[in-house]
Amino acid sequence: MKICILGGGLIGLAVALELRLAGAAVVVLDRGSVPAGWAAAGMIAPAAEGLAGTPLAELAFASRALWPIWAARLEEFSGQGIDYTPCGALVPAIADAAAPIEGHQWWDSTQLASAVPGLAPDVTGGWWLEKEACVDNRKVLTALRLAVERMGAEIWAGVTVTGPADPGLAAVATSAGPVAADAFVLAQGAWSGAWGLPVQPLKGQMLALESAPGWLKAIIFSKNIYLVPRRDGRIVVGATQETVGFAPGNTAGGMAGLLTAALALVPGLAAHRLLEQWWGFRPATPDAAPLIGPGPWPNLHLATGHHRNGILLAPITAQLVTRALTGGGEDPLLAAFSYRRFGTAPR
Ligand code: GLY
Repeated sequence: MKICILGGGLIGLAVALELRLAGAAVVVLDRGSVPAGWAAAGMIAPAAEGLAGTPLAELAFASRALWPIWAARLEEFSGQGIDYTPCGALVPAIADAAAPIEGHQWWDSTQLASAVPGLAPDVTGGWWLEKEACVDNRKVLTALRLAVERMGAEIWAGVTVTGPADPGLAAVATSAGPVAADAFVLAQGAWSGAWGLPVQPLKGQMLALESAPGWLKAIIFSKNIYLVPRRDGRIVVGATQETVGFAPGNTAGGMAGLLTAALALVPGLAAHRLLEQWWGFRPATPDAAPLIGPGPWPNLHLATGHHRNGILLAPITAQLVTRALTGGGEDPLLAAFSYRRFGTAPR
């Protein structure tokens, strides 16, 4: 069976690796746009993201549980480290404003002060989410590319998919001519709207600050801002949410908003050097949940629309898409993520 993955971002490559390991012949068509998986902060944090109690909860927490083993396998197949770290996350309460997070531990200001340097004095406590984790998502992308190729899948770089080549989708039309396959997986992230699906870009601006390794040990996740530690000491600060299409670039307002919120929460960061700023486009859907499962063309399977949660959901998306395409059937977990929940087929 030959499966063609449309999109060489984190989700497309994760699906490609899993399909290859299941024995499929796999070709990935990667047009080379900066994927959301490169721009992301690398959080594996469904509780901090407020997903408990939502229709996405079961999928999200199941994927968080898969991450440790998925990370170890990826490191083994690629020979590259990806810095998966079970760092935990702290949701600070500012003037007692944080809603309780059920099932989690409350830290008072003394516990906080010993765990997070330089916090603002108006942080009166916080919820400690010990099972949250983070990973270096850029390392994940590099490792996935290596692993996919090492396992014998092909990645065609610089190839743009322009649409179906025929009504039965025996092939897709591309900048390199028609490409035929037994099945296609649409993993074009924020660019998936070109297939008539309800996926729009939601721009996120980000920046990174310097610190010593270990200065920040856990994710700090507040309403307006989050801080994510890297093993080399970098602190990733994110992120704006802007509906501006594919407008590129960092803006003065975007950077000012992130820095103001970060310093209000952790004034101790004021002297830290600014290392980098960048932006990316989340694949946003109207209900903030992904589109996974059969798509609006025969032979087309969807793995897109992961909104704010692409890193978190990569392992379970890869696993369930592979199961569906290799005869294992559609998992009931996916029932809520059909594109059909938004009404009739977009064709
Ligand atoms: N998952 C965090 C973000 O999308 O900003």
